[in-house]
Amino acid sequence: MIVEAILSTVDSDGVAHFAPMGILWGDRIVEVLPYRGSRTFENLTARRGAVVNVTDDVRLFVSCALEASSRRDRLHRPAKNVPGGVLDEVCSYRELEIVRAVDEGQRRRFLCSVVASGRDREFLGFNRAAAAILEATIAATRRSWLPPESLLPLLDQARLVTEKTGGRREIEALRHLLDLCEEGSS
Ligand SMILES: Cc1cc2nc3c(=O)[nH]c(=O)nc-3n(C[C@H](O)[C@H](O)[C@H](O)COP(=O)(O)O)c2cc1C
Repeated sequence: MIVEAILSTVDSDGVAHFAPMGILWGDRIVEVLPYRGSRTFENLTARRGAVVNVTDDVRLFVSCALEASSRRDRLHRPAKNVPGGVLDEVCSYRELEIVRAVDEGQRRRFLCSVVASGRDREFLGFNRAAAAILEATIAATRRSWLPPESLLPLLDQARLVTEKTGGRREIEALRHLLDLCEEGSS
């Protein structure tokens, strides 16, 4: 199963970096597959550790996926055993040590051992609005190379289900997503 989470790595200047990643989940081993050219890819290759932040706050997915890195700084504490940050808004987290890396075309598969974990609050799940916003956000990260027709229906769907089922977090996330997509297209 793939769990959508916020992965934290550490840049060469020691600053924590946050980016959403689909994590292939396991009890003791998890796998992360970042694309070449991303900071997450560079940081995992250079520093061999990371933190998986599990959160139901969809606003974090939008901002950490689409904002410029310099604006992505989130309130967090440093992890105890590995390079990476634990978000203040986290439900639970896992500290990861990379045990193996395998190149797979455009991506590298990092197999990671879970060396520590913690839990801050209940994970409420993603409602329909949050799930639709996640889908549209993933498509928005690929909008430079995907045809515009692939993003617009996902944004429409996210609007529709956020009106029906969204709370404050989903409404704010959607507004931010629409603003960032607008900025990116102008
Ligand atoms: C829910 C979600 C899941 C994602 N999963 C992945 C993934 O597994 N691998 C990947 O390379 N990018 C993934 N992305 C896109 C990255 O988060 C995005 O491109 C981000 O800016 C990473 O680049 P960076 O490390 O340079 O910040 C995902 C985005 C979202 C919203």
